[in-house]
Amino acid sequence: MTVQIDHALEEIRRFRPSPEFAANAVADSALYEAAQADRVGFWADQSRDLLHWDKPFTKTLDWTNPPFAKWFEDGDLNVAVNCLDRHVEAGNGDRVALHWVGEPGDTRDITYAELTDEVKRAANVLTDLGVGSGDRVAIYLPMIPEAVVSMLAVARIGAIHSVVFGGFSADSLASRIDDAEASLVITADGGYRKGKVFALKPVVDDALTKSVGDSVRNVLVVKRGENEVEWTEGRDLWWHETVATASSEHEAQAFEAEHPLFILYTSGTTGKPKGILHTSGGYLTQAAFTHKNVFDLHPETDVYWCTADVGWITGHSYVVYGPLANGATQVLYEGTPDTPHPGRWWEIVEQYKVSILYTAPTAIRSFMKLGRQIPHAFNLRSLRLLGSVGEPINPEAWIWYRHVIGGGSIPVVDTWWQTETGAIMISALPGVTDLKPGSAQVAVPGISIDILADDGTPVEGEDGGLLVITEPWPSMLRGIWGDPERFKETYWEKFGDKYFAGDGARRDADGDIWLLGRVDDVMNVSGHRLSTAEIESSLVAHPWTAEAAVVGAADETTGQAVVAFVILKASQAAQVTDVAAASEELRKHVAGQIGAIARPRQVFIVNELPKTRSGKIMRRLLRDLAEGREVGDTTTLADTSIMQVISDQVK
Ligand code: PRX
Repeated sequence: MTVQIDHALEEIRRFRPSPEFAANAVADSALYEAAQADRVGFWADQSRDLLHWDKPFTKTLDWTNPPFAKWFEDGDLNVAVNCLDRHVEAGNGDRVALHWVGEPGDTRDITYAELTDEVKRAANVLTDLGVGSGDRVAIYLPMIPEAVVSMLAVARIGAIHSVVFGGFSADSLASRIDDAEASLVITADGGYRKGKVFALKPVVDDALTKSVGDSVRNVLVVKRGENEVEWTEGRDLWWHETVATASSEHEAQAFEAEHPLFILYTSGTTGKPKGILHTSGGYLTQAAFTHKNVFDLHPETDVYWCTADVGWITGHSYVVYGPLANGATQVLYEGTPDTPHPGRWWEIVEQYKVSILYTAPTAIRSFMKLGRQIPHAFNLRSLRLLGSVGEPINPEAWIWYRHVIGGGSIPVVDTWWQTETGAIMISALPGVTDLKPGSAQVAVPGISIDILADDGTPVEGEDGGLLVITEPWPSMLRGIWGDPERFKETYWEKFGDKYFAGDGARRDADGDIWLLGRVDDVMNVSGHRLSTAEIESSLVAHPWTAEAAVVGAADETTGQAVVAFVILKASQAAQVTDVAAASEELRKHVAGQIGAIARPRQVFIVNELPKTRSGKIMRRLLRDLAEGREVGDTTTLADTSIMQVISDQVK
């Protein structure tokens, strides 16, 4: 079989849609034509089709004050009603919304009617706790149904959620709580991961002692891990004593389309994460549109599974808002892919007859390493569409995914987008577009992208440059929480009214787009964004560190890996005899300060860092070292002999 794949790689670079798939495909080429003819009108039509508006909008787009866009401005809707109540009212209350699978093996099937009731109960509790429209609620939960319920309950009452990934540390949580001035934190005692309970409530307690503000009035705690937790009377409440017993009568109010829906923090080029702000009507329109068309969703028959955590944007748009707005039935899984055995995901696919699977290249490459015998021990024939997100998928992984997981002939869609874009921007449409392994391909209908040279001139034909989005889109970020200047500076200063994505891209002879990775100091590790500056400041905060430089080095499995170069303070250097132990201590320190995902793969203790005459660290040269390559051009270094010294030290 391996031979066949290699052959496929060399010979077949394009796959035409199969006629059987195309015959039943949700999308058709008319979408491209309609969007081409009238882009703004196209989105208005999609929004009216896909969503329920309590007050229909008459204005589609206001772009008179770029970069501040307003979509469907004079329309009113309730996002949670769109994801829940209307499906029940349409007679689909008995449809399963969530097939939840806990890591230890416990399961729950929750119908749309049940999910609606639970969200109404939670909304009543939030209101009783004094949470109102526009208030911020931090959510720090494992992948349990209550995470989805919490997000929708917050949305239902017009409050704003800030979901913080459960792997982030107390410091990271505290800074996010403070930045958004959250009045409530929803958490769990703990959750399951790799066969063990990881504590969450103690991290929240710790974060609240670290928090510089005093915005948090209450902590609502789901019982999941059954681990011991401390309790602050008057502040802490159990979910099962409040939400479970609350009334499920709740009249939802409609909010303006531009009412804020959530803040989601993501890493930028500085040490401080950015609170990306999304609003209601435009976001939900594009999340629903792309979920339906890119994943070819047939809600009556499909079982959809997106493996992302709700702590990331993929979990927001393609676990919660897109699928639920479309009335999909989906799998929600709490744990890791290899617990209690390496075939756990494939067992779930077999058990629930998953038909659409959306995951990240890192996961695919990890499965590739383990070998096909693991997935092939299960019946995967229910799968009919595969998706990829978060990082470039190399053609080998694409082909393996299609052959070994997908049986050889089903579509694989590689979807490019960002926390900031809110929803998929570049992807093939299955059944319509030819598929090309390794390329994210074309802008989705209604989205305008281009590739520019550094001076802003469009790159013609087969060439590379910087990816931009040239026209406003419905699910675009509306700003950075509390920092309009940073919003303008980061995305709009470089090319005026064109959105600068921070990614390099190349156009091939067919006009397909290939993503080339970040062009700024943002790393992508396992599809997660990390900032070099944030990890450097964490390293420098350690009492031993004098200076630190961090690079993202190519990694076979995770795409990139964090590699740090640290100069110890002279007072410490003399005492540090065990360099390996010192590196380990610094790796742990970063994991403790930011979260395990930021733990460097390697920390090299060095005496020097390569700097230009103006004192700027040349990360490019460090990346060469970290990737085991010959060191590139060193002529701009203040001291050209430095690289030899460093390279001797990292051997
Ligand atoms: O560099 C691109 C990469 O991930 C970045 C966005 O990260 P984040 O906001 O965390 O969102 C990840 C999930 C949408 C982008 O700037 N990226 C995302 N998808 C792809 C990708 N790179 C290549 N191909 C993709 N399909």
